[in-house]
Amino acid sequence: MSTRPFIIANWKMNLLPDEASQAMNSLVACQKRYSKGLERYSLIVCPSHESISRCNNVLGKKSSPIALGGQDCFWHDKGAFTGEISPISLERLGCTYCILGHSERREILGETDAMIQKKVAHLCAATSLTPIVCVGESRKERNSGRVRSVLKRQLRSALSHVPRRRHVVVAYEPIWAIGARHPITPKECAVALAYIHEQCQGLGIPRMYRAVVYGGSVTHDTVLSFLTKGVSDGVLVGGASSKSAEFHSLLRTIAKIV
Ligand code: PGA
Repeated sequence: MSTRPFIIANWKMNLLPDEASQAMNSLVACQKRYSKGLERYSLIVCPSHESISRCNNVLGKKSSPIALGGQDCFWHDKGAFTGEISPISLERLGCTYCILGHSERREILGETDAMIQKKVAHLCAATSLTPIVCVGESRKERNSGRVRSVLKRQLRSALSHVPRRRHVVVAYEPIWAIGARHPITPKECAVALAYIHEQCQGLGIPRMYRAVVYGGSVTHDTVLSFLTKGVSDGVLVGGASSKSAEFHSLLRTIAKIV
């Protein structure tokens, strides 16, 4: 796995296929313009499933170093599972990463820890995709002092069947900071990330096989506070990544730091 900081764009369901391929075209141009500074990062874009193929065509034509990821997938490759996404299909469509356990899926679609565990385990067993496993507490859990217990429960469940020497990205995404006005403070973030590292180590995932990134209201204004001073191994950007002008400005900001 890359040892460069990750910049992961989660486009959610914000762009229709033609909008996604347009956004990918302009992102490729932006990446080229700032390639010298951006070479220091690993840039991954997760479009919605129906846009992946078109985005992959854009990347292939331009020989771009941008990687693709899915936003979710099922724990079987084929079968009578109406509406589900096969992890193998993601791989064939050109993805090398896949987000699993995003809080919007946990909250809106009722995904449980047990389901996420099966997804992570199957993805690791059946494909070479790297899982981007999302964890994070709600506002209520935070206010009642349960951040550590929630993270511990989610990580123990999601990562318990990850084979040895398998790379994993963990995204710490406190639910209350997603789509919010302000992200978590870098100080609070560093505390949570240190705890996540400790848990991953205890689960037998050595440092060289894991990256722990932060997600939740990251914009061009705040991105540097999470990337500098070793606060995190990267960022997962949601809303701001599907608005081209905003995302390009974020990339310009990080490309310029020395
Ligand atoms: P946000 O979303 O950047 O819009 O807060 C992050 C995410 O949900 O992955």
